[in-house]
Amino acid sequence: MDIIIRHEEEEDYLQVENLIREAFYNIYKPGCEEHLIAHRLRQSEAFVPELDLLVTLDDEIIGQILYTRARVEDEDGHNHTVLCFGPVSVHPRHQKRGVGRKLIETSMDLAWALGYKGIVLYGSPLYYHQFGFKDASAFGITTEEGENFEAFMAVELKPGALDGVHGRFYPDPAFTVTPEDVVEFERSRAFPDLAQD
Ligand SMILES: CC(C)(COP(=O)(O)OP(=O)(O)OC[C@H]1O[C@@H](n2cnc3c(N)ncnc32)[C@H](O)[C@@H]1OP(=O)(O)O)[C@@H](O)C(=O)NCCC(=O)NCCS
Repeated sequence: MDIIIRHEEEEDYLQVENLIREAFYNIYKPGCEEHLIAHRLRQSEAFVPELDLLVTLDDEIIGQILYTRARVEDEDGHNHTVLCFGPVSVHPRHQKRGVGRKLIETSMDLAWALGYKGIVLYGSPLYYHQFGFKDASAFGITTEEGENFEAFMAVELKPGALDGVHGRFYPDPAFTVTPEDVVEFERSRAFPDLAQD
């Protein structure tokens, strides 16, 4: 497959939000909220434009990933910058052909080149373990509430890069959206009807 990875431009935003919506719709809950999260994350100070990447195939956008900065605060009140990625999605027609893998690996290499140390995220362990993600407890990183569980993971961008980084993880507040926010966002746009798909 002759795919190209490039940065997202403002004129891609609508098309990318449609792609995210199509990929996440009814997968983890009825409907989805990830298209709104992406919309808000791009406006956040934590957004990392250098890691806002798309995959195209014959000029069609078929995949996307975006990153935000987050912090891990240790018991002494020191903040350590880490990255968080997501949403990440590949159009359902093009899934399970290595596109997600290429996008994640490319962006992780770029993140290291940009000087970041590691990534912390919530996601499917089944999928993320192949990229080196481990239970965040392996690094002494907990959720904001001090918890650990399988779906809360972290990875070092190079061995040892997260040495000294431990504490509670605070993702960007733009990740938190309400069902009402989603309803309003859906009303504000002419999103296609996916209910029957
Ligand atoms: C998750 C997603 C981005 C993966 O993209 P993709 O292009 O389908 O992934 P790849 O083809 O690179 O998959 C690589 C491997 O992971 C496996 N895999 C893919 N999706 C998986 C999933 N959801 N859970 C577990 N394993 C998965 C594939 O079988 C493949 O394994 P293999 O290399 O041994 O054959 C894509 O399926 C998607 O958009 N899903 C809906 C949105 C979503 O769930 N995003 C992630 C949120 S945590």
